[in-house]
Amino acid sequence: MTSRKLAVIVLAAGMGTRMKSALPKVMHPIAGRPMISHLMDTVSGLAPDRMVVVVGPDMERIGAAVAPVPTVVQTERLGTGHAVAQARAALEGFDGDVLVLYGDTPLITRPTLERLLAERRSPRDPAVVVLGFKPDDPGHYGRLVVGAEGLKAIIEYRDATDEQRENPLCNSGVMAIDGARLWSLIDRVDNKNAKGEYYLTDVVALARGDGACCSHEEGDPTELLGINSRAEQAVAEAVLQRQLRERAMEGGATLADPATVWFSWDTRLGQDVVVGPHVVFAPGVTVGNGVVIKGFCHFEGCDVADGATVGPFARLRPGAEIGEAAHIGNFVEIKKAVVEAGAKVNHLTYIGDARIGAGANIGAGTITCNYDGFNKSFTDIGKGAFIGSNTALVAPVKVGDGAIIGAGSVITKEVGPGALAVARGSQMELKGWADRFRAQHSKKEG
Ligand code: UD1
Ligand code: MG
Repeated sequence: MTSRKLAVIVLAAGMGTRMKSALPKVMHPIAGRPMISHLMDTVSGLAPDRMVVVVGPDMERIGAAVAPVPTVVQTERLGTGHAVAQARAALEGFDGDVLVLYGDTPLITRPTLERLLAERRSPRDPAVVVLGFKPDDPGHYGRLVVGAEGLKAIIEYRDATDEQRENPLCNSGVMAIDGARLWSLIDRVDNKNAKGEYYLTDVVALARGDGACCSHEEGDPTELLGINSRAEQAVAEAVLQRQLRERAMEGGATLADPATVWFSWDTRLGQDVVVGPHVVFAPGVTVGNGVVIKGFCHFEGCDVADGATVGPFARLRPGAEIGEAAHIGNFVEIKKAVVEAGAKVNHLTYIGDARIGAGANIGAGTITCNYDGFNKSFTDIGKGAFIGSNTALVAPVKVGDGAIIGAGSVITKEVGPGALAVARGSQMELKGWADRFRAQHSKKEG
């Protein structure tokens, strides 16, 4: 039976009105990427033969997020049953198993989906298998009505009696349906219910009416959380963050205070990484082995090589590449720049569009002046160079290997290897001037 073909329909056309947002609901991020992208990744692990995402009008952004998976547009949002009907042409001629997923239920895992499919492919041959769960707060979820002979119906909350609402077994929205029977069921779904919508959930009672059997599997509530509001989005975020922290620790990282470290879905930490409190990993960050990250750092789109030390209070922006055993200290911002092995940028510095050669030392307060209001320009600092404190490097500019720049310099021209460059007003001294000045003033006041 496992050789049966698989098609997946993801429903994502809903407005998500409870989010009160201009952004389609399924595009709201959790752990740094749209919730639908989490789902698409999980589903692609099943290697489906066909896949289609149902979106609403003006939701091109979803199309871009799920590409190359095709989308179909549900012009009028008449309910989940109507949404599935829109996928009919895309599934033309398909009679394998059809998995229907909701784009707002992104935490579901592959083993759970596999369990649902295995049940669908069992000798009982259920027309519809529904994934149920028992959340702490069943709230407004639909309820599964189960009898001795299996799943009988799904009753939507709004249509349920008080007694039916007491039932703790909820509908996650996820279903595995026999593709050979799907369209005949969908064709008969009507909208005679409290919401006036075509409910996908009605296919269960319709299949039972045809004499077919239906069944359910029970899943883990944390996986099946449906996100309809910002508060539910925050709950999903917390679930994912907990998982990502556990994954980092299992991978050999120490998190001094795990609850204060924020990860993205793709954060990669090596072994023996130590992360202090209050650190944020925005998307696209890779950290090598033995890296020490002190508290209050922010990372995004950057790589940190083995043995480097970062922070506290450092900000690594996209394109920052920190070499082996390099030191990035407090109040340092690095953007689109390579800091080579062993270089030190320890205090109060901005490095953007630059290369800092191996072993170079960048003094406190150094700024690469990379932007003239129109263009970005490059600063190249050779290996072993020493940049004195409070130097402004006006790009494009180059400092040769081993050169020394005097503190407070404004460097606008190339400095050769091994040279000293000092570019500041020269010091003058007027002997006794301060004493005379004070004396004059004290006479006036007296
Ligand atoms: C739905 C289920 C409910 C279940 C809950 C689980 C129905 C009728 N109800 O309710 O039993 O407990 O999910 O989270 O299915 N969508 C479309 N087109 C539409 C309407 C919805 O594509 O016309 C999409 C939405 O984008 C969303 C999904 O379908 O991804 C579910 O829609 P939503 O409005 O959130 O349904 P719920 O009220 O949560
Ligand atoms: Mg929902």
